Order: sequence, then structure tokens, then C-alpha cells
Amino acid sequence: MTLLQCRGLSRAWGAFRAVSDVDLDLAEREICAVIGPNGAGKTTLFAMIAGNLRKSAGTVRLDGEDVTGLPAPALARRGVARSFQITAICPGLSAVENVRLGVQARDPLRWRPFGGAARMRTGEARAMEWLDRLGLAGRAKELAGELAHGDQRLLEVAVALAQEPRLLILDEPTQGMSLEETRRTVELLRQVMAESATAVLLVEHDLEVVFALAPRIVVLHRGRKIADGPAEAVRADEAVQQAYLGGLG
Ligand SMILES: Nc1ncnc2c1ncn2[C@@H]1O[C@H](COP(=O)(O)OP(=O)(O)O)[C@@H](O)[C@H]1O
Ligand SMILES: [Mg+2]
Repeated sequence: MTLLQCRGLSRAWGAFRAVSDVDLDLAEREICAVIGPNGAGKTTLFAMIAGNLRKSAGTVRLDGEDVTGLPAPALARRGVARSFQITAICPGLSAVENVRLGVQARDPLRWRPFGGAARMRTGEARAMEWLDRLGLAGRAKELAGELAHGDQRLLEVAVALAQEPRLLILDEPTQGMSLEETRRTVELLRQVMAESATAVLLVEHDLEVVFALAPRIVVLHRGRKIADGPAEAVRADEAVQQAYLGGLG
């Protein structure tokens, strides 16, 4: 069943077209990487899908429903969670408090501020589970802003996953990480993705990470989609190699 259906998505700033006429379908539970050189339009595309940026043209459907004009909070309520290329956690809150915000965002009873101590504990327990799955249980009480960069990125993923989204949009989750942190992150993401029902759209510049995580790859080049298919086929595609991979594979 198609979860996400994008048609003709475009975004221009003045005469400059950052994203041109992109069609993209994603099935439930599908994991797809979007790659392309710097400035190809990846973040712009994700921002349009997540409702953070107005589209110049095109439509987005979620479960067949036209959600083109909806802003990010309305899409979040429909199960779309996005992690940002720039870390977007609350630095003054502890790690576990950050994840609790994610848990609450998903919880339909979140508007009841006096839910009682039992509910508070449940939220905290669920937040701890997510921290544990991302290898951060030992950091629960530390201030998010004081965590190592790699742990902050993982925390951001934990916050997004705690919303139990149907579609998770990850923009360069390993950016700025050391080789060791990147390996650990890939392993954790692989496990979490295998266990969850979440569909994932992933921007990642590290091709090792892309090939380790995503069975399907979309290639953007100057705002246009120039390839879309199984990872191996895209890797072998001549136009892709010329545009981006520089002879890899
Ligand atoms: N707010 C903006 N105003 C003008 N140009 C922008 C804006 N945001 C992005 N762009 C331009 O759009 C192009 C695509 O950017 P982006 O989507 O961030 O690329 P990527 O994520 O693939 O590196 C770039 O040339 C960038 O400079
Ligand atoms: Mg980007």
C-alpha cells in the first residue's frame, strides 16, 4: 500500500529552481535513501514533504489523502516525523526529557496536563526504552546540550522515533560524526528500522551508510530526480556515476 505519493514537487527561489518536478512514491515500511551532491535539493524536498516549506508546485498525498497544504504540526499528527540536518533538540532539558516530548507528541491524551503520576511514569518508561534502543540509556539524566555531538544526533533520532511515526524523515543523521560513531549509528538504525513498522526517507552523504541501510535509492541532481530504483541498479547506473558517484562500484 502506498504511504506517500509526491507528484511534480517543485520549489523555486526567484528564478532559481532548487527542486524541479519530482515524483516520489513510498510504500508502507519502505526504506529509501535520497542522495545527490551538495545543493541538489535534498533538504528542500524533505522540508516540502514534512510541511516545513511551501511548495511552488506539486502535490503530496499521505494514505491517498491530499495533504499538500498542511503545515508540519498537522502532518506530525498524521504520523510524519522529521529529524533535521541541524540538530533540533532542547539543549537545556535532559536526554530523557527530550524523548518524553516525543512520546507525548504521539500520545492522544497529551492535552490533559493533569494526567496523574501513573501516566507520567509510563511516559518516562517509554522514553527510557527509546534511549536504550539507541544506546543512550546511560546518558538519560545528562543535559542534551552537553552530550557529545554524535549522541545528540542519536538523541534526535530517539525523539523522532518516540513519536512512533509512520514516516520518518532523516536528514544526514551521521553528519559530523566520527567513523566510530557513524558505524555505531548505522548498526543502531539498522536494528531499529528492522523492528519498527516505520517507513524511512533518508538523506545521507556517506554512501557506505546509504548502501548499508537503504534497499532503494533516489538520486537528485540539480533539483531533478535522475534515478530511482534498487540500490544495486542505481549504483551501476551510468548517469548517476557521472553526476555523483565518480566511478564508484
Ligand atoms: N531559503 C533559501 N533561499 C534561497 N535558496 C535556497 C534556500 N534554501 C536552499 N536554497 C538553495 O537551494 C538549493 C538546494 O539546497 P538544499 O535543498 O539545501 O540542498 P541539499 O540538501 O541537497 O544540499 C541550494 O542551491 C541552496 O543554496
Ligand atoms: Mg541538505
